[in-house]
Amino acid sequence: MVKSVPTSLSPLGMGLPGIRRAVDAVLADFLHAKARTAVDGRLPDEITQLLHGFVFAGGKRLRPLLCALGWHAARGSGDIGPLIRTAASLEMFHAFALIHDDLMDRSATRRGRPTIHRALAARFRLSRRHDDSEHLGVSAAILVGDLALAWSCELLHTAGLCPARLASVLPVIDAMRTEVMYGQYLDVLASGRPSGKTEVPLTVIRHKTAKYTCERPLHVGAIVAGARPGLLAGLSAFALPLGEAFQLRDDLLGVWGRPDRTGKPALDDMREGKHTVLIALAFQAADERQARLLRTHYGDPHLDEDNADTVRTILKATGADLAVEHMIADRYEKALTALDRLSIPADARHHLRQLAEQSVWRTR
Ligand code: IPE
Ligand code: IPE
Ligand code: MG
Ligand code: MG
Repeated sequence: MVKSVPTSLSPLGMGLPGIRRAVDAVLADFLHAKARTAVDGRLPDEITQLLHGFVFAGGKRLRPLLCALGWHAARGSGDIGPLIRTAASLEMFHAFALIHDDLMDRSATRRGRPTIHRALAARFRLSRRHDDSEHLGVSAAILVGDLALAWSCELLHTAGLCPARLASVLPVIDAMRTEVMYGQYLDVLASGRPSGKTEVPLTVIRHKTAKYTCERPLHVGAIVAGARPGLLAGLSAFALPLGEAFQLRDDLLGVWGRPDRTGKPALDDMREGKHTVLIALAFQAADERQARLLRTHYGDPHLDEDNADTVRTILKATGADLAVEHMIADRYEKALTALDRLSIPADARHHLRQLAEQSVWRTR
């Protein structure tokens, strides 16, 4: 249990907002440097502007924060510059993952603003005579995402990690990238084909979120600090249930969340027919009429608010929403129990607990 409530992340001495500011400063400097190089080489600097707008429109910075806390949990010491740059590389990777996710999910908004492909399509619509603007928006957004991926690699290999540390961190970054893409692939394939089976959505959330968002960022930070395998296993025991709870919350917010808080559209998951744990549990408990209505409306690309409310009513009537709440609470408890078992500095434990609470009981 947490015995004291420290106010700073010693020895970082900056707390979570301070880590966020330091990571953001690295990202801003990096993008400004890229913009200057583009202008000098007569290349389009709107790509850096778009990425800058995307990165600084919001975002919880969960991955860089966990990376920094992993470092602290492993009793990292010395210059924190390489750690912060490594953490920033995770956020740049996340920009890539989100930009491509929004394409795959046909999402119109992200972080309260038009998604990159939508913003680009609107721009092309204004500047071109032929109406190929949608396709151009998609093509250009793929490239903006690709650049974010390439630049996340650049941020990492120029982070200033000593060769031995870089060599030990790279396999974890490789694993993270592989896991999230397998998870996303399964997610895309299962969309539009929801059923009462929870096996696929549970595999999806473990890979696309729990490993990618929580486990690997903690491992990366801990390895930068020179952690031993025993600590990594302990961090996984905390991070995996936490990450699953985080995604289960996201699935609830995907149906009941307020777009002015989440920054994301309210109907996307239902229109895409996402095979979430939530819909699987609803199918398990639905009577014939409810199952028929779910099959009619869930996955309808033109779903309107009235029919979305029909779906929401069935999700509640079948008890699926409450069942997911129970799964979240159960995983949150498991994560906290694992956290209490870790042999880490008290302030690392305190900040991990705080982050866990914010991630699971959130409205955005
Ligand atoms: C969105 O990630 C994708 C998921 C894995 C749920 P976040 O919810 O961390 O998104 P931002 O970075 O805060 O916008
Ligand atoms: C998560 O997928 C995206 C990543 C793993 C990057 P989702 O499609 O579930 O997340 P949101 O709702 O768009 O943020
Ligand atoms: Mg998706
Ligand atoms: Mg999405």
